[in-house]
Amino acid sequence: MEAKASAPGKVILFGEHAVVYGKPAIAVAVDKRAVIKISENKEDTIKVYIKNLNISATIDQLNNHIIIDNGNPGILKYVLESLKRVHDASPVTIEIDLDIPIGAGFGSSAAVTVATLAAASKYNHKNLTKKEIAQKAHEVELSVQNSASPLDTTISTFGGAVYLAANAEEIKKLELNWTYPLVIGFTPRKEDTGKLVEKVRLRKEAYPDIINPLLDAMGILTETALKFIIEKKYSYLGELMNINHGFLDCLGVNTKELSNMVYTARKTGALGAKITGAGGGGSIVALCPENNLKILSALKNIEDAIEVNISHEGLEFID
Ligand code: MEV
Repeated sequence: MEAKASAPGKVILFGEHAVVYGKPAIAVAVDKRAVIKISENKEDTIKVYIKNLNISATIDQLNNHIIIDNGNPGILKYVLESLKRVHDASPVTIEIDLDIPIGAGFGSSAAVTVATLAAASKYNHKNLTKKEIAQKAHEVELSVQNSASPLDTTISTFGGAVYLAANAEEIKKLELNWTYPLVIGFTPRKEDTGKLVEKVRLRKEAYPDIINPLLDAMGILTETALKFIIEKKYSYLGELMNINHGFLDCLGVNTKELSNMVYTARKTGALGAKITGAGGGGSIVALCPENNLKILSALKNIEDAIEVNISHEGLEFID
């Protein structure tokens, strides 16, 4: 018996951090995926392998424990929390094929969580809907990170481009038929998402009169971006990305390396560029219908960069 599923990573165009406080956000799924295969094994434990990261571990689901044979355990916490929700703790081998850079703002943990929940629920003959998987995936992120919005797990489950309305009350699929890739520059992240979300919370608590209106403005900015996306006014959209980068700087999640990439992308012809994801290292996204190769190479010269395309496929069960 075996079950397989895959889910995409994401890039946030507008609304990271503000979304944690109920503001709207816009994100796209990208053509970088996590593929999870679960198969029965003859041992008496749950084994996990992530070949491309050289990680191998044993999970003791009943005692809530991960025993690492090799590699960094961070992402395995999401696997354990996912199993606890849909798996009966019987011995299985979990093989993870991760095409998404981890800790770089691409939502690798959400993709691994969504695909693990899907594969494990199929393995256990539980027919969960995508909505149920997205809900459980959000619970998993909350329990690992303490605070998280449903943004990453929603986009990884449903794919395409998504507008998540204020307080996650509505999920609107957007028609984004961009034929050019997004250029993503990335640097190693020094702090994880949970810590960066906490850092923003502390700043909000210390300066509520300054940070609360800023978060309100970030919400208005995302709503304005939605309007420009619908009207296909991309140069205005680029300008909003630049403003959004400034807001994220005010929240305290910018770094010198990220800003260096943002300014390099703008100087090389991007319509706009900003931090994407939690920041603190991690990634920037540049909107560049033209000059994308030039921008890619300029970013590679100073840090690292890749191109990603919007993926219209979200979670997929693989036969
Ligand atoms: C991380 O990809 C996005 C944040 O807004 C956190 C969250 O939404 O849970 C920083």
